Amino acid sequence: MTDAVSMDETRNATTPGPELTVVVPTCNEHDNVRPVYDALCYALRGVDWEAIFVDDDSRDGTAAAVCLIANSDRRVRCIQRIGRRGLASACVEGILASSAPNIAVMDADLQHDERLLSDMLRVLKTEPTVEVVVGSRYAEKGDMGSMSRHRLWLSRIATIIGRKILRVPVADPMSGFFMIRREVFQASARRLSNIGFKILIDILASSPRPLQIVEIPFQFRSRHSGVSKFDALIGWEYLTLLADKTVGHIVPTRFVGFALIGGLGLLVHLVVLWLCLNITHLAFAPSQATATGVAIIGNFVLNNSLTYRDHRLVGWDFAWGLLSFALICSFGAIANVGIATLLFAQQHSYWWVAGIAGAAMSLVWNYAVTSVLTWRSR
Ligand code: GDD
Ligand code: MN
Repeated sequence: MTDAVSMDETRNATTPGPELTVVVPTCNEHDNVRPVYDALCYALRGVDWEAIFVDDDSRDGTAAAVCLIANSDRRVRCIQRIGRRGLASACVEGILASSAPNIAVMDADLQHDERLLSDMLRVLKTEPTVEVVVGSRYAEKGDMGSMSRHRLWLSRIATIIGRKILRVPVADPMSGFFMIRREVFQASARRLSNIGFKILIDILASSPRPLQIVEIPFQFRSRHSGVSKFDALIGWEYLTLLADKTVGHIVPTRFVGFALIGGLGLLVHLVVLWLCLNITHLAFAPSQATATGVAIIGNFVLNNSLTYRDHRLVGWDFAWGLLSFALICSFGAIANVGIATLLFAQQHSYWWVAGIAGAAMSLVWNYAVTSVLTWRSR
């Protein structure tokens, strides 16, 4: 048993937590870890800070590089996520793991100017009404640095749509570089969509009331090392985020994506069936089987890369996923025919009502069961 005196001694030996947490999401950023750490150490002299790297199972040893630094500096930690992906959700996990009153989010590739951090902190500490400070690439002296021409346009269009739909009063809501008070984040936390790349928009749009924002312009630098994770599908994720923020409380956006892809699958099925019958002159049964196979594989691939982008399966998981998806959808088809036949057999029922009810039944079944067995199995 510990006596009272030694208990007091233990307490006195502790040091208070930091005033600032810098959350750094990483995905294959091994060669950037040390430079980011050095940059933080230099830029935050005189500030009581810590850094939380949130790594999504990088295969280049990013997490090990962070741990190596953490072993010699207790201000540094690494959260390793396995089987999950996504910049926004990674930032959220990092923020939730912090207890500091001020939290910044900053990319790991040195594109964001770490020298802004102390200015951001000063604003939050000296201006009590300000709730978020955004490092803005658009405002006045801000600069888009090395962004390619077409990304610049995409970014501008996305910004305009974002501001219109979400009524976010920020010059650069697409920025991934900002600092926020912890209680302000907490107020949004349960309402976040956690979809895709745009965490700041998500936080601002999820806040129960409009937030007081200050923007500080900065020069967007070019990437220090490694490659960008930005790809064409990030546009799809952005649309999903907007949909979730506008109609998401009525229908889950994943379900909408799944249903749209299902509709596309029906179209694909009919086209392949027509091709088999009229071009290759196969008999009906093998034609229908081919069309079904193509539609199932197509739907699986699309759902895996769009609807379940954050859980996407690769390698053997992909093969098993396809198998389970095909099996589940076959049961869905049986349920479809069963329900439709039952309804059709009843008096006064229209053929199309029975047809739609059967299709809806299998859609709900396929969605519900594949969401658990195919994409959430890990
Ligand atoms: N944990 C995790 N999971 N990190 C990720 C993921 C992911 O799925 N995807 C990207 N990251 C990390 C990268 O390792 C990097 O540190 C940071 O997030 C930004 O990724 P980049 O691939 O460098 O994105 P970008 O430069 O094209 O876009 C960035 O800058 C834009 C302008 O400020 C992002 O911050 C955008 O959100 C931002 O709009
Ligand atoms: Mn980058």
